[in-house]
Amino acid sequence: MTGHGRGVDSAMNADRPAKTAIRSLWADVVAQEKTGLVAGQPLYLTLCGAAAKDLLLLAERGIITLTETRALSAPDEALVAAVESSADGVLELQRTMPGLKVFQQRIEEMLRGSSPFSWPEGEARRWCRAKVVNLDFNSSLRGGLSGDWPQFPTLDVIDKLADLHTEPSTQEWLLLLTLQAQIQWPVELIQSVRGFLNDNFSHHQSFAELCERFVGPVAFEDLVSGELPWANLSSEAQQRVLMIFLPKAVASRVRGRWRIEVEANIRYGGEPGTGSAPMCSWVIRFARDARAVNANDAYLGALNSAVSRPQYIQADGTFHLDRAV
Ligand SMILES: C[S@@+](CC[C@H](N)C(=O)[O-])C[C@H]1O[C@@H](n2cnc3c(N)ncnc32)[C@H](O)[C@@H]1O
Repeated sequence: MTGHGRGVDSAMNADRPAKTAIRSLWADVVAQEKTGLVAGQPLYLTLCGAAAKDLLLLAERGIITLTETRALSAPDEALVAAVESSADGVLELQRTMPGLKVFQQRIEEMLRGSSPFSWPEGEARRWCRAKVVNLDFNSSLRGGLSGDWPQFPTLDVIDKLADLHTEPSTQEWLLLLTLQAQIQWPVELIQSVRGFLNDNFSHHQSFAELCERFVGPVAFEDLVSGELPWANLSSEAQQRVLMIFLPKAVASRVRGRWRIEVEANIRYGGEPGTGSAPMCSWVIRFARDARAVNANDAYLGALNSAVSRPQYIQADGTFHLDRAV
């Protein structure tokens, strides 16, 4: 199969307005972060896909420069790089943007798996410490239970990236994360996640109130004490559950190491009859967890930032505040 034949490439090439709006948001973030870049630090590591649409937008905005032959300019080879798991995707990408450094592997492999005893070295390690890391996955959040313990491989990836940004010195960074929003987890995992959320609702009243306003009282009641598998919820409801759970789970994983701020918590796609997949996308800032800040306050701040301004991108590409009540 050629790069052109991959379903994910056709979806990306469709240039839906909501996806274009997300890329524009990414470009704003990357432009802003470029201004404070530490000398020698890579700016942007991305799963850009074969067509590199996010990188082409950076070029259009003058954040990176392309030569007349549309190759990446030599100075910018140190600023941006890609990770691509598909061999066909890599071939196509090398034609799209010659000169771009591409790690031909899964990001999980680049990070040397989830083991705390195995770490990337050399170039791979340097790029994993980029100021902005864009994980634009064309898949949903997979999860399972190991014994009683919830396992989410994507959270392991984020955890490892967060650790790598502390070694050898702490570099603040931003994660851009995009996932399909279908929740297809086993029932036991859903019950475990319900318990995890409930624990937070009962300990953090302000978080519970924000979540109830966000999803509405009926869905909130289901989050607290329901028994339905979430795959039966509407696309919109599944997106909202993920918009609560994902930032909360990231905040828990890096608690005490990083103070996270959810700068954008967005859903788009999934409207009936449009054929677009329901998606969620986040911009999460990882800041030093200053000693002066109480770890609990930092954690609650992260939770509240996640649901204080949830957004919805309509099919026409316009942003709206997303609230059920
Ligand atoms: C959604 S597309 C990227 C679209 C691009 N960011 C854009 O704005 O058009 C995701 C790309 O990442 C690749 N990919 C998916 N999962 C990956 C993984 N775990 N590691 C590396 N590459 C992956 C896919 O083959 C695909 O080309």
